[in-house]
Amino acid sequence: MAVCNIVSFPSQIKDDWPGYSLDLFSYPAHYSGDLDCVYIPHGVIMDRTERLARNIMDDLGDHDIVVLCVLKGGYQFCADLVDRIKALSRNSNHTIPMRVHFIRLKSYVNDQSTEDLHILGAEDLSSLNGKNVLIVEAIVDTGKTMKTLLKHVEAAGPKMIKVAGLLVKRVPHNAACLPDYVGFEIPNRFVVGYALDYNEYFRDLNHICVISENGKMKYKI
Ligand code: HPA
Ligand code: MG
Repeated sequence: MAVCNIVSFPSQIKDDWPGYSLDLFSYPAHYSGDLDCVYIPHGVIMDRTERLARNIMDDLGDHDIVVLCVLKGGYQFCADLVDRIKALSRNSNHTIPMRVHFIRLKSYVNDQSTEDLHILGAEDLSSLNGKNVLIVEAIVDTGKTMKTLLKHVEAAGPKMIKVAGLLVKRVPHNAACLPDYVGFEIPNRFVVGYALDYNEYFRDLNHICVISENGKMKYKI
């Protein structure tokens, strides 16, 4: 299964990238003081997603696809990616049938990964049997979540599994298992927005931003 491919030219955001000043963009006023910078503006996310959709279509355009959206963080990326794939499919000679399934995982409290990964809401994965599955995940961090998820999906006996991850964090131990399609490789910093949360906050922020110490304190549980 080609889920541990080395991605040839990942779009890397370097360790010294300071992000954009918050003054350059608009963001919800209720988060003023809670963010350090805009790390990846919404428009850039959308442009990168469009390109990922094209890469996916080039590879899988001849197959039916079952998209497996990893909730909650993956909902925005999945919606936008599926949207771009549909648009490309509309504009080409052959359209691809796509189904969308959801699985809900939780492993983070505050900005720390916990040992226990919860699969909270899984549809019956047996429907993935014999299918071409595209797992869509917002962020691959330690890789633990992805490994556990892959085990579950593999057990359902799909024909093929591909993984699309909008963000991959540069942490030493996840290098062995990268998604097939990577939006951005980012430094090991805690980011929020574009459906990525800190204790359920910041999902309503369009840009991917770095949370401030103030923000961490304010929403800590
Ligand atoms: N932000 C939000 N959720 C996450 C992150 C992050 O940086 N890493 C893993 N889950
Ligand atoms: Mg989360």
